[in-house]
Amino acid sequence: MTQHRHPESPILSHCPETLPAHAYIDADWYRQEQKTLWANNWVAAGRLNDLKPGVMKKVQIGAASVVVCRASDGELSAFHNVCRHRGAELCSRDKQPMGKLVTCKYHAWSYAAKDGRLVATGHARPTDDFQKAEHGLIKVSHMVWNGFVFLNLSHDPGPLAPDMGLKSLDNWPMDSLVTGHRMVKDLACNWKIFWENYNECLHCPGVHPELCDLVPLYETGIMAPNEAPDWTPEKAAQPLLKEGAVTWTATGKPCGPEFPNLSPVERQNGYNFVTIYPTMFVVAHVDYVRAVYFEPTGPESVRLTAEWYFPQETLDQPGFDAAEVAAFAKIVMAQDAEVAELNQRGIRSPAYMQGKLMPEEYAIHDFHKWLLHNMGRGLQS
Ligand code: FES
Ligand SMILES: [Fe+2]
Repeated sequence: MTQHRHPESPILSHCPETLPAHAYIDADWYRQEQKTLWANNWVAAGRLNDLKPGVMKKVQIGAASVVVCRASDGELSAFHNVCRHRGAELCSRDKQPMGKLVTCKYHAWSYAAKDGRLVATGHARPTDDFQKAEHGLIKVSHMVWNGFVFLNLSHDPGPLAPDMGLKSLDNWPMDSLVTGHRMVKDLACNWKIFWENYNECLHCPGVHPELCDLVPLYETGIMAPNEAPDWTPEKAAQPLLKEGAVTWTATGKPCGPEFPNLSPVERQNGYNFVTIYPTMFVVAHVDYVRAVYFEPTGPESVRLTAEWYFPQETLDQPGFDAAEVAAFAKIVMAQDAEVAELNQRGIRSPAYMQGKLMPEEYAIHDFHKWLLHNMGRGLQS
């Protein structure tokens, strides 16, 4: 029996293959991903206002370490974090102070922080055949979007491509939001497993009781109203949160003043996701914003960093505790982490070669198409 679906519904009309098991385990596959999609797409590197002037920061993108420098006048620059002398790492901590120069700890070669120019070679006195101008730091492209710093290792980077478009967060005062809480979590699963889990809600009824209580739609295993079997475009959009709730907090009540410029639909949604493959997703609520960054640390491990952003006014409320607000999404993320690791352990079984996607997993199918296209491979099915 064919499932009923409206032609404009995103639900698939067939059940495609998943990626093969080795895509989640194999070191060669992992290296290939690093060389292609992680090296050619924009990778989020934290908030601009969390990098104070006069500080440099180390960011890992696969094998590549990048140093992001913020000069005392606020100007941003980014370089491969490697000395041109004999290759020592320049910035060796997550963040460290810097002046006008970035100086290598090993033999004191120093570089201009703004443009990477080699300024001095410490005690060494190079002969005339050494061209200082050719030994500056190697630049990495950078940009800022909605207060997020992005890096791109490619020599010829394409545009940043959030799924909802570059204007998707225009109604939130993103630049001025302040980080109120951060959580770093290392998971024993391939980075794609967490994205796949993000891309479907079939697991929601069994895995996320608290979230399903807040978002009744999730209780039915779908992510959006247009996935329902009886959906038609004429049906007016319904509020996505349960009655009385306006945001993702334990009570559904806002944790501070609501953002004044949101559209009625953004407000009614209660949560607005922006997906930026492969690096991050953002969830914008009426009162605060959360972002989750993905950093693959090996074929079978990923580091997730979640951050919660608030207006300063909210943080300044007497007795306000950002950790309390974060607690709700942390419960959901812990539930997702558990099933993601469960998924990874199962995929290692020699009995598992490849699985099947269900029609409701259309967003995973799209993710696989994006991934294989970026790796220069075709889809097997
Ligand atoms: S390796 Fe950096 S100065 Fe020698
Ligand atoms: Fe989930």
